Amino acid sequence: MAQQKVLGWEEIADYFDEKQGDEGDLWHRELINPTLLRVLGNVSGRRVLDLACGNGALARQLARKGAKVVGVDLAPTLVARAQRRESRPAPTRSGPLGTPLGISYHVSDAGDLGLFGDGAFDVVVCNMGVLDMTDDTAHRAFKEAARVLTAEGRLVMCTQHPCFEGNDTAAWVVEKLGRTTTVWRKVARYREHYEMVNNWRVAPGQFLQTISYHRPLSWYVRSLREAGLAVTAFEENEPTEEFILQDNEGAWIKDVPLHCVIEARKLG
Ligand SMILES: C[S@@+](CC[C@H](N)C(=O)[O-])C[C@H]1O[C@@H](n2cnc3c(N)ncnc32)[C@H](O)[C@@H]1O
Repeated sequence: MAQQKVLGWEEIADYFDEKQGDEGDLWHRELINPTLLRVLGNVSGRRVLDLACGNGALARQLARKGAKVVGVDLAPTLVARAQRRESRPAPTRSGPLGTPLGISYHVSDAGDLGLFGDGAFDVVVCNMGVLDMTDDTAHRAFKEAARVLTAEGRLVMCTQHPCFEGNDTAAWVVEKLGRTTTVWRKVARYREHYEMVNNWRVAPGQFLQTISYHRPLSWYVRSLREAGLAVTAFEENEPTEEFILQDNEGAWIKDVPLHCVIEARKLG
């Protein structure tokens, strides 16, 4: 089966690992992860597969909550960075040396999880990963998630909100009328499927690109269903007070969500 090319993730792996650090950057810690963790609920003792795990920041959080975590990602250097963080844990509040968390990481395409047997996991989580997969790969990833989940298992994923985010096709509009300021979110080409180029400023004056994919919300529900998964929860990420204080977009995102969390369970 043809593998999806790692579009820039291999090239930006070192930058991304540093940006995310041990526990994720501001956007992950204070906007993306809190809603995702709330939907995940108690993961203690659960076997969790972190799909498109990046540098393992979420995998570590889940392992610290008692989950037995396996992480996979298509970019070998990101997997190596995650493994390095596992074997050389960051200092913790209780002492200068952390302890390894028992996480194993593998290089694998989310659309072909041949490394794992049927029903091997209670939870498959995918944090900001599905949007970086083509429609075909994402659909295969949903099918593979359904296969590796137990009968009661669930897939929980966080992604860009298809209704409000689309890089060049969505923007904030700040309108001042007299003493009133209104911030609007304008959106175009919602129903289309298209590629989005993400520019990462890896060094002053140096940009690298990754590609992500827009498709309408209905596509997700349909594709999940065709893969044997039914949507059982849908949440829209809310920024914490800390995020609102630290990021200019915070108050606007409180009003209009740019991310969503989808939970899907295996159909009987
Ligand atoms: C935005 S990053 C998110 C990483 C991590 N989950 C996080 O939240 O920090 C997207 C990740 O998806 C991975 N990825 C893209 N396509 C993939 C595929 N087909 N299979 C597995 N991983 C993939 C990339 O290598 C990258 O690590």
